[in-house]
Amino acid sequence: MKRLTLAGTDIEAPEVVLGLMRIADKSDDEVRELLRTARDAGIDFVDHADVYGNELHGCERRFAEAMQLTPSERDALTIQTKCGIVKDGPYFDFSYEHIVESVHGSLEALGTDRIDVLLLHRPDALVEPEEVARAFDELHEAGKVRAFGVSNHTPRQVDLLRAHVRQPIVANQVQLSITHAPLVAQGVAANMQGQEQSITLDGGGIVDHCRLHDIALQAWSPFQAGFFTGVFLGSDEYPELNAAIDRLAAQYDVEPIAIAVAWITRIPGRTQVVLGTTTPARVAAAAAGSEVTLTRAEWYELFRAAGYTVP
Ligand SMILES: NC(=O)c1ccc[n+]([C@@H]2O[C@H](COP(=O)([O-])OP(=O)(O)OC[C@H]3O[C@@H](n4cnc5c(N)ncnc54)[C@H](OP(=O)(O)O)[C@@H]3O)[C@@H](O)[C@H]2O)c1
Repeated sequence: MKRLTLAGTDIEAPEVVLGLMRIADKSDDEVRELLRTARDAGIDFVDHADVYGNELHGCERRFAEAMQLTPSERDALTIQTKCGIVKDGPYFDFSYEHIVESVHGSLEALGTDRIDVLLLHRPDALVEPEEVARAFDELHEAGKVRAFGVSNHTPRQVDLLRAHVRQPIVANQVQLSITHAPLVAQGVAANMQGQEQSITLDGGGIVDHCRLHDIALQAWSPFQAGFFTGVFLGSDEYPELNAAIDRLAAQYDVEPIAIAVAWITRIPGRTQVVLGTTTPARVAAAAAGSEVTLTRAEWYELFRAAGYTVP
């Protein structure tokens, strides 16, 4: 498993991390087996959010109750969680009060004294960056949060926060898979009239912005065809893509899921993949993708096979 440092911090992270959005109904044994498999594959970084689960902090609590981490086991794990979504509405809330209250709820549910990385989950149109800065300062100084980042943010939204927040923004977690790659595809067909792919959906240049500012690009839903529409792996809707994935999987002696991971990690910068599968064997197979370095020809072949244009 390749590793990277979250810029401006001493946090070392694997390229592939374990998302825990889907564990609400898993038993203690299932959660433990999932984590054990991940750890064996070099994944010591988990991704949570206050809103994951059937109730607020549900998945965080399920994780903590199942794992019963000892202090040394806790130290060996990097725990990332998110705040800023209010499910009842829904709406987004980056107020000082909401951020602080959410972190306290996460600390309690996770049964820990610190969150390693806190992400602002989805951009709040009513954000007051000074308030965010005040919340971050207080949480950081109290040792409750070690590092901060964002999710689903445009470059300008990140810059607005960076102008006010004193801590580095270490990550921007965005939806990214071979079949859902507008933030990569737009730049490949920049400025082409009549080409849908040229339309900027991401505020323009999230990938380059992350590289310029040493922000880790974390890819969520790495195997989903669209927005929770089912996986593209093995799907009849993507025959050409799956044929290419299967051929490369055989060539590199890995499972097809590893090729889907390798396509993402091949994107330069501090690129991470956030797995969502709760099937241990899939976690192990996906982790192997970190060791596969696709050639340019292979990477672009998958990109074209997913339906994107290379002009
Ligand atoms: N920041 C954000 O806004 C945001 C949004 C969504 C998610 N996330 C994070 O990203 C993580 C990943 O998201 P995701 O769960 O949508 O991503 P994903 O890994 O692309 O999808 C996993 C889901 O696909 C299912 N699946 C079916 N066939 C599969 C196959 N062949 N290979 C792999 N999975 C297969 C899995 O089922 P099984 O569990 O039965 O294997 C699971 O339900 C989440 O856990 C969360 O931490 C962040």
